Amino acid sequence: MWKGRFAKATADLVQQYGESISYDWRMYHHDIAGSIAHARAQVKAGILTEDEFSAIEQGLREIEKEIDAGEFDFSIELEDIHMNIESALTKKIGAAGAKLHTARSRNDQVATDTRLYCREEIDYIITHLTDLQGALLEQAKKHASTIIPGYTHLQRGQPVTVGHHLLAYVEMLDRDKNRLTDCRIRVNVCPLGSGALAGSTINLDREQIAQELGFDRVTTNSMDAISDRDYIAEFLFTMALVGTHLSRLSEDLILWCSSEFGFVTLSDAHTTGSSLMPQKKNPDVCELTRGKTGRLYGNLVALLTAAKGLPLTYNRDLQEDKEPLFDSIDTLKLALRVNTEMIANIQINVEACETAASDPLLLATDLADYLVKNGVPFRQAHELVGQAVAASVESGTPLDQLDLTKISEHYGADANKVFSLQTALAARTNSGAPSVKNVTAEIARWQESL
Ligand code: ARG
Repeated sequence: MWKGRFAKATADLVQQYGESISYDWRMYHHDIAGSIAHARAQVKAGILTEDEFSAIEQGLREIEKEIDAGEFDFSIELEDIHMNIESALTKKIGAAGAKLHTARSRNDQVATDTRLYCREEIDYIITHLTDLQGALLEQAKKHASTIIPGYTHLQRGQPVTVGHHLLAYVEMLDRDKNRLTDCRIRVNVCPLGSGALAGSTINLDREQIAQELGFDRVTTNSMDAISDRDYIAEFLFTMALVGTHLSRLSEDLILWCSSEFGFVTLSDAHTTGSSLMPQKKNPDVCELTRGKTGRLYGNLVALLTAAKGLPLTYNRDLQEDKEPLFDSIDTLKLALRVNTEMIANIQINVEACETAASDPLLLATDLADYLVKNGVPFRQAHELVGQAVAASVESGTPLDQLDLTKISEHYGADANKVFSLQTALAARTNSGAPSVKNVTAEIARWQESL
């Protein structure tokens, strides 16, 4: 493609080192769509005749079919998807093919392809996120009133329900979807026409190209347009954060399915055994999700690092944007799909949940609130209940069976009524709190919005 200036062919090792076709071939649909839109604008600019355009379009469609069918011969001498396709086109249709690259550089071409690719993948990921939210919602529905302890520091804190706990993840995933939707706005801008870095003396109708490709607008600075990888960084960050959320969900499930908790049983189809210990049933999907989150973080850091020292405009370092991007997309899509399937098939063990939630210490705060309602300042109430807890621990008598009236005159005969889980939960009526009424309303709201 640049033989004019060179006396020697590119060294084999350099070709091996610099090729990207082994991974960027996956953008062939986007590359072809971009080329067709570019060629249509070339007709308007008088560069191509209608016949030449038809030959280009048809040739590109044939190439697309060949790649679809796995019949296209990719060559590393042609480095990347852009040159592989252009070269095949010129072989196929001759002179018209050689005109296609007028007023275009691989720099604006690769930016266009990558943006189209990201846009499509963002939409897939949003759909997968909605599916996972749906699976969580179904389980939340079944267990809107199944009480479990809520934890801080992994120590039992206060009662919540399984439904409330699972809806917390529905919230996180919804923010992820919003972030993706927002990132998509900055992805969906057309850089084509920016050329190598300074546009072109041949003016193509950029608005028409953008419109044909479904972009919302065109970029407004040619130098920024071809060196900008912010949209990839944002996309990678958003995927990394989805990873954080999935990893936390995984950790909860890993704990919940241990014998120590026993709140959940994962289906046989989503667990693995041990080659040595016959009794084992391991939550590998959760562990893999937790582990793969590291890759998502690594990919973000790789891109940020590759971009950080680059003078304007294009530098070949930027080719290093694609493998992290593709890896995060592949990793995350599969993670979302397998987690959706796994969540849809979990079994919540209501009895184990009830046993854990029956710990009266979960209602120690409610006891302090009882004192507050009897006029005791909260700090003093906290101390009084603390003393009761200490007495319970020391004597081995559960908190709800102590004679509280002996500890302080502020306790009435009705103090022990605090220890009804149902009443305690029902009293949590503030918006966002886990009363069954609230959780049921939240479920209905999510059902509607998903
Ligand atoms: N394969 C290249 C990349 O992904 C395409 C752009 C090449 N541009 C260039 N000036 N060498 O970045």
